[in-house]
Amino acid sequence: MRVYVTRPVPPTVRGALEASFEVSFHPSEQPPAREELLRGAAGAAGLVTTLGDRVDAGVLDAAGPGLRVLANYAAGHDNVDLEAANARGVLVTTTPDVLTHATAEHTMALQLALVRRVAEGDRMIRRADAWLWAPTFMVGSGLAGRTLGIVGLGRIGSCVARLAEAFGMRVVHTSRAGGLPLAELLREADVVSLHCPLTPETFHLIDEAALGLMRPEAVLVNTSRGAVVDEAALAHALRAGRLAGAALDVFEHEPAVHPDLLGLENVVLTPHLGSATAEAREAMGMLCVEALRTVLLEGRLPRHALNSDACAPA
Ligand code: GLV
Ligand code: GLV
Repeated sequence: MRVYVTRPVPPTVRGALEASFEVSFHPSEQPPAREELLRGAAGAAGLVTTLGDRVDAGVLDAAGPGLRVLANYAAGHDNVDLEAANARGVLVTTTPDVLTHATAEHTMALQLALVRRVAEGDRMIRRADAWLWAPTFMVGSGLAGRTLGIVGLGRIGSCVARLAEAFGMRVVHTSRAGGLPLAELLREADVVSLHCPLTPETFHLIDEAALGLMRPEAVLVNTSRGAVVDEAALAHALRAGRLAGAALDVFEHEPAVHPDLLGLENVVLTPHLGSATAEAREAMGMLCVEALRTVLLEGRLPRHALNSDACAPA
């Protein structure tokens, strides 16, 4: 049974895939061009895609009627047209849980890097600027005693809450199930950290009006999806001094970053590394393998399927 994988994967994941299937891999970390994606998918019973691949009706149709399962190598699935998958009986799975700690840890790394000016200090030393300890030199702010506002208290948001409490932060949250109204959280938090999925409701959730509710001493951290934030509005608020800083791991038009953010010292940027630990990436890959095996070899419903209801396996 043929499986197409849109990126190189860790060796253990590759071995596990090749032990069960006839696999072709896109050879580069750069995404396949649209035509390559369509060609690679043709005739596949299973696809392994990433958040950088737009999986729509065209891709599913290019695969053809033999396609049974799409394992998205990510916790998020905003890159997949779920309705198109439902309509074609294609099961879609994701890789939650195994990246929760990695992503929460990266969120804490970004918070600390921002408020303790880690990246800024590193840049300063590398530029060989003059510096020496002084009571007033390069002071930042701490996390202890500050209020963290978590937008989206899912698995990752909850893990960030636990880590933040260990740092002595007070945690408030907003979620679909309850917590504070967003406006109240934005007014109250010293650090606002985004952990919601990207949906039509959360697109540009943090826009000019939302940023306007935050206090000028507050900072924004985003390890969710870039498009949850209106980057132009964020850059504008930062330049105008209406916000103290931002730490961003995700961008609306990855790999592009809004140019106005690049020159700001109070902005920390990482290239979508939330789940980028060797353990998490291997575990995510093995969940994809498990999903493919469960559907294609055992004819059962896999764990972490988004649309089991719509797709009873043949
Ligand atoms: C990464 O952003 C993911 O959704 O796994
Ligand atoms: C992702 O796994 C989440 O639920 O936060």
